Amino acid sequence: MEQELLRLKQEAEEALAQVAGADQLEAFRVRFLGRKGGVLTGVLRQLGKVAAEDRPRLGQLANDIKQEIETRFEEKKAQLTVAGADTDSGRIDYSLPGRYLPFGKLHPVTQVMEEICSIFEGLGFAVAEGPDVETDYYNFEALNIPKHHPARDMHDTFYVTDSILLRTHTSPMQARIMERQEPPLRYVVPGKVYRCDSDMTHTPMFHQVEGLLVDRRVSFADLKGVLTSFTHKIFERELALRFRPSYFPFTEPSAEVDVACVICGGSGCRVCKRTGWLEILGSGLIDPEVLKMVGYDPDVYSGFAFGLGVERIAMLKYGIDDIRLYYENDLRFLSQF
Ligand code: FA5
Repeated sequence: MEQELLRLKQEAEEALAQVAGADQLEAFRVRFLGRKGGVLTGVLRQLGKVAAEDRPRLGQLANDIKQEIETRFEEKKAQLTVAGADTDSGRIDYSLPGRYLPFGKLHPVTQVMEEICSIFEGLGFAVAEGPDVETDYYNFEALNIPKHHPARDMHDTFYVTDSILLRTHTSPMQARIMERQEPPLRYVVPGKVYRCDSDMTHTPMFHQVEGLLVDRRVSFADLKGVLTSFTHKIFERELALRFRPSYFPFTEPSAEVDVACVICGGSGCRVCKRTGWLEILGSGLIDPEVLKMVGYDPDVYSGFAFGLGVERIAMLKYGIDDIRLYYENDLRFLSQF
């Protein structure tokens, strides 16, 4: 039996060397390794008839040879696939187009945020970023919102501890920037902000771009000029703008800015809550109290600040009527931008 096994091994090696295509390889597999009628399987079956003392040694030899033939078979198969030799069985059609890997794209909100920053960079603003997990001090106190101030209620804050929170706006960066730098300064701060809020125009996480400019003799006219110029650039047309008097504890005077609703053209729809206008930002001249807290002299310096809602601007730019679509991860929606 030992002789028979060694002869079989040699025979298999010679046969495999002759194999030149997929059909021949399959014929080899059936002849030598096939479960039914394969030569090797036949020899293994005869092991039962061998004398008991020879059985372990011959069993081991038979298994080694089987494994060797299987390994050689797999190597040959890989060789033939690489060489494309199995075209003789017609399995590869070279005229078929290749498989394309899907291209990744930037999220529409990221695209718009980058566009906003680049417009302000063109107006001489630098870009800065700050932490999402913020202290109560920078998010509120440094912005003239002490503990128990009613303005805290407007923010629906996610607290981490009593003094640490997820920032509710990008305004904490106002104090962080002013503390480390003397005027004149111009910055925009893009980033994520968090509020416990959710409906068609509000999501619990959204993006803002903060704007901050401090210099001598800065007036409300400067703020108006910068924001008007920005709005015309981002919407690529002269959309109507409305500066509506408002209140923020850290700016005085303050204004919210609305643009004509692009979904309904200003006639009123469910997105603009039938008003014809959509609020895109809050703004104002920096309150002298805030300037004092960072060590600036309000008699020498003045400045303006604003906070833009990026999702709102992207909605208006692309005519999207539900802010929640941005965060449902539906590629049919996201790949349109
Ligand atoms: C603020 O967050 C102020 N920090 C803005 C500011 C900065 C005022 C500097 C003065 C000086 P407000 O809460 O209004 O303000 O938010 C600003 C903009 O963010 C809104 O105009 C709106 O476009 C957007 N926004 C507010 N809440 C949400 C929300 N839950 N989902 C999506 N966008 C929102």
